[in-house]
Amino acid sequence: MKRNILITGGAGFIGSHVVRLFVNKYPDYHIVNLDKLTYAGNLANLKDIEDNPNYTFVKADIADLDEMRRIITEYKIDGIIHLAAESHVDRSIKDPFTFARTNVMGTLALLQAAKEYWESLPEKYEGKRFYHISTDEVYGALKLTNPEGIESPFTTAASSEHHHAYGAEFFLETTKYNPHSPYSASKASSDHFVRAYHDTYGMPTIVTNCSNNYGPFQFPEKLIPLFINNIRHRKPLPVYGKGENVRDWLYVVDHARAIDTIFHEGKTAETYNIGGFNEWKNIDIIKVVIKTVDRLLGNPEGYSDELITYVTDRLGHDMRYAIDSRKLQRELGWEPSLQFEEGIEKTVRWYLDNQAWMDNITSGDYEKYYDEMYSNR
Ligand code: NAD
Ligand code: DAU
Repeated sequence: MKRNILITGGAGFIGSHVVRLFVNKYPDYHIVNLDKLTYAGNLANLKDIEDNPNYTFVKADIADLDEMRRIITEYKIDGIIHLAAESHVDRSIKDPFTFARTNVMGTLALLQAAKEYWESLPEKYEGKRFYHISTDEVYGALKLTNPEGIESPFTTAASSEHHHAYGAEFFLETTKYNPHSPYSASKASSDHFVRAYHDTYGMPTIVTNCSNNYGPFQFPEKLIPLFINNIRHRKPLPVYGKGENVRDWLYVVDHARAIDTIFHEGKTAETYNIGGFNEWKNIDIIKVVIKTVDRLLGNPEGYSDELITYVTDRLGHDMRYAIDSRKLQRELGWEPSLQFEEGIEKTVRWYLDNQAWMDNITSGDYEKYYDEMYSNR
């Protein structure tokens, strides 16, 4: 079937994996990648598919309503996968307004432009879909009731040896929203607007809330690529607080696979949680990263341990995120395909093999920004 799909934020980390998957898997779809190319957007993430005949890149700001109207109409868009956002919690603490502008007003502009276009067509919302990508952070923070870890109630074919839960509670699709950071507050607000467009105007929407992603092409302000790069340059590894916070990690290509499944088979107006069934304390994951980088660089074991530097905690730092994604597993048959140990090995190798990609980003202005960001820690 021919379709015209708009993917926003396609030059970012997760978006680039989604664009790649759709361009390669669906030659009959026209994939329009809309991205403002902020500091986080990088067309080098899509070099391998940029010349495909079913792919178009458009530079635009989702908060520009007239531009959204023009683009959606010009390309006769019938499906939207919305990933464009400001995504880094530390930046949101320093500059909340940019987050409200892009994540809230930008999402609203996109919704409004899609509504106007789709309502102008004879078939209206039939065959249309607005899929909004959100985060588990909207649910707030869980308690770390079992710091040593208990047996996880979830298993998947890819469950790894390290398979613990650090508390008995998990985020469900029905968990009440309770965001704490300006980032998660802005994402929560955008999720509400998406649902409001369904409930008020009948727009066929879907929302998914995913846990922490890792993998190739992630901007090196996020924990895993930042630490890989710092180890390579023998720079300190800034561990916030005691390093006890827990995150649930998912390989980015598995998230892209979930997005594909949900875009095509998910039920309108539903929410699906997407998670890795894979909780780690920060300090434990940091030790795995150090060990893997040292081994692949040929350093003796323990060589980079001394780079670990405990720094002032992130303001309002959420203690634990843990997703129960059994609804998606049960209803649509999705689960992670990769064991964490395989995923982290692939990821570290990728960053070490693609040092030019990293060096391009971390030189010049970014270096100045990074030093400023971390100078007061
Ligand atoms: P990212 O920061 O790597 O990429 C964001 C992209 O959006 C960039 O290409 C950027 O240029 C673009 N963008 C930013 N503002 C824009 C604007 N005003 N108009 C158009 N484009 C704009 O982010 P990511 O980590 O790939 O996250 C993508 C989405 O997934 C976000 O909505 C995020 O909230 C969500 N999410 C991320 C994770 C994660 O672990 N990274 C987990 C769950 C959900
Ligand atoms: O849970 C999903 C979310 O995961 C996404 O919605 C966000 O877009 C994404 O950025 C991510 O948020 P986190 O804040 O969890 O990711 P980050 O990589 O910034 O941090 C992971 C953990 O590591 C967190 O507990 C803070 C800690 N940390 C992070 C950095 C950058 C450190 O200890 N030191 C660091 O230098």
